[in-house]
Amino acid sequence: MRLILLGAPGVGKGTQAKLIQKQFHIPQISTGDMLREAVRKETVLGRKAKSYMEKGELVPDELIIDLIRERLASKDCQNGFILDGFPRTIPQAEALDRLLKELNLELDGVVEIKVEQEKIIQRLSNRRVCQRCGADYNLITNPPPSDLICPICGGKIVQRPDDNEATISNRLEVYERQTKPLRDYYSQQGKLKTVNGDANVEAVYQAILEALREDGK
Ligand code: AP5
Repeated sequence: MRLILLGAPGVGKGTQAKLIQKQFHIPQISTGDMLREAVRKETVLGRKAKSYMEKGELVPDELIIDLIRERLASKDCQNGFILDGFPRTIPQAEALDRLLKELNLELDGVVEIKVEQEKIIQRLSNRRVCQRCGADYNLITNPPPSDLICPICGGKIVQRPDDNEATISNRLEVYERQTKPLRDYYSQQGKLKTVNGDANVEAVYQAILEALREDGK
């Protein structure tokens, strides 16, 4: 299965991608996670990406496309993949189409997850993550331990630098302006399915599976 999860920041793309990865044994490809790792390791890409990410702006297309080109060519992508947070602009989507054509592959579906803005802000401002293993916590739905030490790996639990109010608001604006046009792009290709993301994690997961089944995938 080759799938894109589309949706605004905080709708649950990463959460759902992990469940799909586990059930279908295909990798989650999160450009956000890849960029955060590059920033942490202070690579050339990380140094270029850092200031865009801190402001909630998109990292330039050419950097992202190179990153994806390399990743999709990896052996573990041969049986499929879940793209989480990519593409985010029309040029990225066009580059992906070209790349898939080169590799003789086809997308099976694009699932858009939708959640109201107010809920998104609540989810993101309460999110906490483990700096080391990336485990996800939420002050409301899944509170971290009071010592803020990750029970899974012993890492420190922190707030993502782009999860502050001003940056969340910019990320949502950037989504409306630069990423939302992808809905029409994939709808015209007959690939877009939309699911309600304002339900518990398991219910959203079932809705995604149902949307894919409707497509006969
Ligand atoms: P990225 O890491 O992709 O961030 P994002 O799109 O803003 O997505 P998030 O990780 O915030 O949200 P999500 O939808 O994955 O939700 P999650 O499952 O975590 O990108 C970060 C930055 O990198 C960008 O701003 C940009 O600078 C750069 N970048 C990345 N990709 C790029 C690209 N292609 N081009 C250019 N630049 C790029 O859930 C969020 C919270 O909600 C969690 O606390 C979770 O526990 C909770 N939650 C999830 N589901 C539910 C549910 N059903 N009910 C209640 N709570 C839930």
